[in-house]
Amino acid sequence: MTSVVLTGIGELTTNDPSLGTLADAAVVLDGGRVAWVGPTADAPPADRAFDVDGGAVVPGFVDPHAHLVFAGDRSAEFAARMAGEPYTGGGIRTTVAATRAAGDDHLRATVGRLVTEALRQGTTTIEIKSGYGLSVADEERSLRVAREFTDETTFLGAHVVPDGTDADSYTALVCGEMLTAAAPHATWVDVFCERGAFDGAQSEAVLRAGIAAGLGARIHANQLGPGPGVRLAVSLGAASADHCTHLSRADVEALAGSDTVATLLPGAEFATRSPYPDARVLVDAGATVALATDCNPGSSYTSSMPFCIALAVREMRMTPAEALWSATMGGAKALRRTDIGHLRTGARADLVVLDAPSAVYLAYRPGVPLVRAVVRNGEFAWQR
Ligand code: NIG
Ligand code: FE
Repeated sequence: MTSVVLTGIGELTTNDPSLGTLADAAVVLDGGRVAWVGPTADAPPADRAFDVDGGAVVPGFVDPHAHLVFAGDRSAEFAARMAGEPYTGGGIRTTVAATRAAGDDHLRATVGRLVTEALRQGTTTIEIKSGYGLSVADEERSLRVAREFTDETTFLGAHVVPDGTDADSYTALVCGEMLTAAAPHATWVDVFCERGAFDGAQSEAVLRAGIAAGLGARIHANQLGPGPGVRLAVSLGAASADHCTHLSRADVEALAGSDTVATLLPGAEFATRSPYPDARVLVDAGATVALATDCNPGSSYTSSMPFCIALAVREMRMTPAEALWSATMGGAKALRRTDIGHLRTGARADLVVLDAPSAVYLAYRPGVPLVRAVVRNGEFAWQR
């Protein structure tokens, strides 16, 4: 592996409190790691040099919540919602039918297309969930396909209760035979804790079974209404509680007093025309906040972390600096990773070069393709 020096960085966001944000900076990448960070004038030589010409550089985006293993199309459901229909999660079953009918190669092609789409928008780490199979065989193969693209795979057999069974019988299947088939391909276990999906007791059973099988816990909580999900996540030491749209004061305090990350998914509120969660309340209370796309064909069909940053700033009362941190370091914390989300010496060499003088532009110029190049694991993975 050859070493690379990036020079002429107009603004370098390191997410390292002792380094902060540097002007006229350089970074040396070697062996897939950050080997040196400092002023361009002091940069040591490397095998290859790349002049960024005043562009901003940020850590690669970490997207800790995406549902990419699916087939079928739900654009008509979106159009109906924009004409006034509510979002209930009922459309998940439409995707389940299409996913079960699809071949492995079709699913693989869809995941590959979306991972590449995300990479071109700066995402260097992505979590991928199952959850549109809902049978032992279909959950197992969804995770097997997901594992071809990321180590951050999540077993979401408890997404909704499929037709032909009841919630308690299905929960028992998820905690038993389905978990046994899924666990070898999964890092995490997740459950949709919501009225109409799984209640507090069923969600607790799923997460405890997953933890006992060696998986880390995460949860879909408090998305469509208030509920027990956030406090369940905190009580079980889950890495992340995701959505957090309808929070009580007790939920906010529980998150703030824990190392469970509140992962906010503003693409879902955008595409379901719902009120956004208030990130300001969470940040001010001391909770750790991450941003994720929730990329899925129903409630949030975006793979764009820059779009989520723009929404978080405009609609969720985050500052541009907070939203960038949440899209990088916040996501790393939601995945309990210490090697990504920052650019201090020793970090994984994952970074994004922007066609903009500062990272503020990610929110200031929404919808504009500002990503000029993406380095993943020390290699130029994409370049315009
Ligand atoms: O995170 N909330 C549950 N699951 C997804 C939506 C899935 C779908 O509508 O297909 C979510 O928003
Ligand atoms: Fe989700």
